[in-house]
Amino acid sequence: DGAELDRRISQAKAALGRRLLILGHHYQRDEIIKYADLRGDSFKLAQQAAARPEADYIVFCGVHFMAESADILSAPHQQVILPNPTAGCSMADMASIAEVEECWETLNEVLGEEAGLVPVTYINSAASLKAFCGEHGGIVCTSSNAFKVMEWAFSRGRRLLFFPDEHLGRNTGHAYGIPEEEMIVWNPKNPQEALDDEARLQRARLILWKGYCSTHMRFSVQQIAKARAEHPDITVIVHPECRREVVEAADLYGSTEYIIQQIEQAPAGSKWAVGTEINLVHRLAQEHPDKLIFCLDPIVCPCSTMYRIHPAYLAWVLEALVEGQVINQVKVAPEVAHWARVALDRMLALK
Ligand code: 13P
Repeated sequence: DGAELDRRISQAKAALGRRLLILGHHYQRDEIIKYADLRGDSFKLAQQAAARPEADYIVFCGVHFMAESADILSAPHQQVILPNPTAGCSMADMASIAEVEECWETLNEVLGEEAGLVPVTYINSAASLKAFCGEHGGIVCTSSNAFKVMEWAFSRGRRLLFFPDEHLGRNTGHAYGIPEEEMIVWNPKNPQEALDDEARLQRARLILWKGYCSTHMRFSVQQIAKARAEHPDITVIVHPECRREVVEAADLYGSTEYIIQQIEQAPAGSKWAVGTEINLVHRLAQEHPDKLIFCLDPIVCPCSTMYRIHPAYLAWVLEALVEGQVINQVKVAPEVAHWARVALDRMLALK
């Protein structure tokens, strides 16, 4: 039961002391996040993985691509563990290295010498895609630095190939001042669609991979209208993985860390409708009883893969570590890690 798991986790954590660092993404459930030594958004957690060489074990309570990034950025003696190895990311799975390579070759062929393509991958992607970016003069972004990354990438080339999240790419492109007509969607399941629209492809400065987060796709303009009708003084804040029209209808948008900061800094009595994962929204509501905080989507479901980190898995991997056994380690192959690190370091170096 819960109390027993709590006892086991606390005991193992105490036994491991400073050799252990538990990182927790903001979407983790309360029963997990309470054990995190550090909480953060994707960017902050990547930074922390690089900044804690004293820990032998980094137990990453998040999803697979985050644990991979932690492995790439941490020191060679550190071992990264994902408590449940099936905690993946359906958006990350929407772009494979074979599809990206095919897209890259086709675009360079069609656009010719004027292509000037720079690959940009959202951190929600497999390490092999980050490595592709490292090797081809590209970079990684997160939802908190996508604008800065776009500035960097446009200083390197004329066109950006942005994957796997169409929506983060489009929202950032609009913030950067790129008109919709200069964007085109690349559907890896049907590349011909983009190729048939040749005039648009030639003009495109932003090529957006057709990938999405199913949790953030649940939010709609209708939900925002309803929240505003019921609470005229509400502030609507959403994640940039939401559709363009949702981000446009909201008052504010940004990464999970940004959403938390905005709500924490707001005065008592303020009202917030939030368009992001439910575990985070519930926690914010509990921690700020002086504010009205609710999720835009009434039939909310959690990010199903984040939810796979159950306390029983955490207890299991920690107790194994106490016994000197490393289970569910995430280890990126050295040649992939090398180039992925190049792309991640370019991002981390941005001021
Ligand atoms: P951030 O924590 O960077 O905002 O990203 C949220 C997310 O969708 C992670 O998968």
